[in-house]
Amino acid sequence: MRRALITGITGQDGSYLAELLLSQPDYEVHGLVRRSSSLNRQRIDHLAARDASTRERFHLHYADLADASSLSMVMHQVRPDEVYNLGAQSHVRVSFDQPEYTVDVVALGALRLLDATRQLARTQPVKFYQASSSEMYGSAPPPQGLDTPFHPRSPYACAKVYAHWQTINYREAYGLFACSGILFNHESPRRGESFVTRKVTLGAARIKEGLQKKLVMGNLDARRDWGFAGDYVQAMWLMLQQDRPDDYVVATGETHSVRELLELAFSSLELDYRDFVEFDPRYTRPSEVEVLLGDATKARTVLGWKPQIDFRGLVQMMIESDLELARRERFARTYSRP
Ligand code: NAP
Ligand code: GDD
Repeated sequence: MRRALITGITGQDGSYLAELLLSQPDYEVHGLVRRSSSLNRQRIDHLAARDASTRERFHLHYADLADASSLSMVMHQVRPDEVYNLGAQSHVRVSFDQPEYTVDVVALGALRLLDATRQLARTQPVKFYQASSSEMYGSAPPPQGLDTPFHPRSPYACAKVYAHWQTINYREAYGLFACSGILFNHESPRRGESFVTRKVTLGAARIKEGLQKKLVMGNLDARRDWGFAGDYVQAMWLMLQQDRPDDYVVATGETHSVRELLELAFSSLELDYRDFVEFDPRYTRPSEVEVLLGDATKARTVLGWKPQIDFRGLVQMMIESDLELARRERFARTYSRP
């Protein structure tokens, strides 16, 4: 059995990665979860409820990236062969409101986990994956690739740059098998509802079902290189299966504006987004990342990775899923009335 430890397993990527690893019978998956006053395991509940063989290979442990001793304890108990650091306060806008907390979890959290991994590496081979981000490029002109200098534009992005360089330094200083995956935006029906793609697909579906009247948005001119999260976790796994640790950019190589996203999502429901979308500066950022467009040549050539789902397919998948959710919500509302 290969043992994988995933931080951020309750998040979008953690859930797809856990699914990918558990689909291979020789993996045991250990996820790190935080204590919260109400359970937030909707994205992984289906894994715990699967057949007995999957259940036996799936384990959760309480720990927090802000708590080094909890990380060491889990590392010691699990003794993983592969560590995937996906845990983060991952919302860019929120990082302006909570900069110190964001940096603690994203930057120092990665350092804490790297160091716990280094301790383990003294007694057994262990590989480390760091979830780096295209946000690190910030205002660097597109296309952004491995040779593009970083110019981070938020507390979150600054913290990710720190974690990226610590990952490289642990590789160079201690010979740790540590990889940094610089992933461009990736989305899915499991995307958190406050990120722009999900906000748009859920908002459009709820408007279509008569559950909401308008959608209040920020900067519609921002452009992103959006891919499907299920494709991107494949790239994470492939990085740790190589003979040598290295860094990679993972992206589709296409960029679209938030406005195009709105047009596509609403028109697929036979709606015109201009009838429903309003602007509120609350949803803008003190410093914005205007254009992201990734060059994933190395991931394609070395890892043999390529995205299976394009922008149009992604939006369609999210719209279908959110329309189903909205219909269920409408049905529940209709029949729960006295
Ligand atoms: P997400 O859905 O926001 O999930 C974040 C995960 O981190 C959740 O499981 C969350 O747990 C956990 N977490 C938050 N604070 C923590 C803490 N103090 N200790 C331990 N765990 C903590 O994010 P995602 O979209 O899956 O992204 C996964 C990783 O990739 C993140 O590091 C993100 O920054 C990075 N990334 C994402 C993208 C993207 O487009 N999705 C692109 C590049 C990089 P709770 O459920 O308890 O909140
Ligand atoms: N969230 C949000 N809400 N974004 C909006 C809105 C809105 O109402 N209106 C416009 N936008 C714009 C933002 O200003 C930004 O330019 C763009 O939509 C994308 O915003 P998000 O979906 O919040 O994602 P992000 O690009 O800031 O960050 C995501 O991708 C990064 C990788 O580039 C997150 O997943 C990060 O964790 C990740 O590292």
